[in-house]
Amino acid sequence: MTARVSVFERPATQRGTGGYGVTLRSIRKEFGSSVAVENLDLDVRPGEFLTLLGPSGCGKTTTLNMIAGFLTPDGGQILLDGQDVHQLPPDRRDTAMVFQQYALFPHLTVGQNVGYGLRMRKRPKEEIRQRVAEALERVGLAGHEDRLPSQLSGGQQQRVALARAIVVQPKVLLFDEPLSNLDLKLREQLRLEIRHLQRELGTTSIFVTHDQTEALVMSDRIAVMRAGRIDQLDTPEKIYREPANAFVAGFVGQSNLISGVCMEAGADRCTVQLPTSDFVYARHTGTVTKGDDVRVLLRPEALRLGGESAATSLTGQVVEVVNEGSIATVVVDIAQDIRLRVTVSDPAAMSLPVPGELTTVSIPPGAARALPTD
Ligand SMILES: Nc1ncnc2c1ncn2[C@@H]1O[C@H](COP(=O)(O)OP(=O)(O)OP(=O)(O)O)[C@@H](O)[C@H]1O
Ligand SMILES: [Mg+2]
Repeated sequence: MTARVSVFERPATQRGTGGYGVTLRSIRKEFGSSVAVENLDLDVRPGEFLTLLGPSGCGKTTTLNMIAGFLTPDGGQILLDGQDVHQLPPDRRDTAMVFQQYALFPHLTVGQNVGYGLRMRKRPKEEIRQRVAEALERVGLAGHEDRLPSQLSGGQQQRVALARAIVVQPKVLLFDEPLSNLDLKLREQLRLEIRHLQRELGTTSIFVTHDQTEALVMSDRIAVMRAGRIDQLDTPEKIYREPANAFVAGFVGQSNLISGVCMEAGADRCTVQLPTSDFVYARHTGTVTKGDDVRVLLRPEALRLGGESAATSLTGQVVEVVNEGSIATVVVDIAQDIRLRVTVSDPAAMSLPVPGELTTVSIPPGAARALPTD
């Protein structure tokens, strides 16, 4: 008697590294006269969960489609596991894609949809049956083989699409905004499920989204894209704490960004003068020099109401107070063009100011970061 071996089982030495590394070298794609992706370099590590995050039209889908082989780059190289895949059609790249619109065959059952790739690969019937059942179990849809897609909810259809992608045991999973069509609760749940599944399988994953929370919650690393280029590639924590520029800071997380001029600069600290003539002592990552115009990033949760013991405090009029119970946001007009949002983490423990009142916002040491203006 042979023990039933899971089709997802890999030798212990390979577990957690079941995916290929993906390398993009100076990848370029143009549509007519417009450049969708511009000399983009990217190294995705084997088994990594990497997110391409950026606003609509920045080239995320185009990049993904070139990795999958649906689009041919106009320049540059794509390497999967170190091999140039220029000549390989999509079905020979060991990649599988999950789309926003699920893209299931409506007239095929769930089982037939999930098994489609295996039938194309001419796997034996019994193996297909077993692998389909196991993939469905992995996505929480055990026993749903005989349903039609129309008999499933949106969330269930996306689970079927996920099962269809993992059943062929790809070395790289590609996700193009797979959760965008789902409501918030389901999205939050599926984020975690996809992440757990990816960790278990160890498949390299490239996930496209314009939802910063999704990117922060799911990723090992995030590539923040703008206009066909990568502005910053880092861990979620670094992207949030040490954004490379004002665009990244504004795109990821809540932010107050104030213009200023760098008066003195050390290796990682600088003094910035604000338009109010106040000075702020700010951190930077070596990108700021004396005389530069800069943007000062102040995260709302790092600011405090009241003026005690802060290096810098600014006074202004409260224009809005939104109390959500567990947190509150207070918006203060400091000067023309300087409006600060301050997050209060335990509003019940203090008396919140009211609109119209004058209040002081203090910037604790280490809270400010000076960024290049671009
Ligand atoms: N087939 C095409 N023909 C012409 N232009 C295209 C084509 N596909 C994409 N583009 C353009 O290339 C740019 C990048 O598009 P892409 O679909 O990669 O953006 P995206 O980051 O995925 O955006 P979204 O978040 O809206 O999905 C856009 O300016 C888009 O209009
Ligand atoms: Mg897209």
